[in-house]
Amino acid sequence: MSSVRNRIEVMHGVNLDQLGRRSPAHYGTASFDELQFKVDGFGEELDLSLRFFQTNHEGDFVERLHELDGTVDGIVLNPGAWTHYSYAIRDALELAALPAVEVHLSDIHKREEFRRHSVISDLCLATISGQGIDGYREALVRLRAELGA
Ligand code: DQA
Repeated sequence: MSSVRNRIEVMHGVNLDQLGRRSPAHYGTASFDELQFKVDGFGEELDLSLRFFQTNHEGDFVERLHELDGTVDGIVLNPGAWTHYSYAIRDALELAALPAVEVHLSDIHKREEFRRHSVISDLCLATISGQGIDGYREALVRLRAELGA
């Protein structure tokens, strides 16, 4: 087994597959495929091995977190609106017990009141918000430092 800890799961939640159709002022104009392509490039540049997952079903997101044990070394996650209220995802993230960084394309602290609170941020090494797709690069750099990859 390789001792390099460089396997990262990049997880997206509800409505993020609709990027490109959602408010460009908040989320930019890139489609979800374009986002994944760009993030994959960050992974290559940083010598990280990325795996992508997206679902609009909360239970599937939870089950994916259950299955991560032993398959990846860290998580980058943008759960979309679940960020603000899903204690189920919070509990599953805690159970996954992996280093995680939370990313939001928009600046959740400068938007509606209900977006300002994240129920997962205290479980994450960092929360990166408002930097668009480049925020994922920062998240990967942060995880790489943590993993010593
Ligand atoms: C988001 C912010 C959330 O408030 C929103 O519900 C999303 C996307 C972001 O990336 O900025 O779906 O997580």
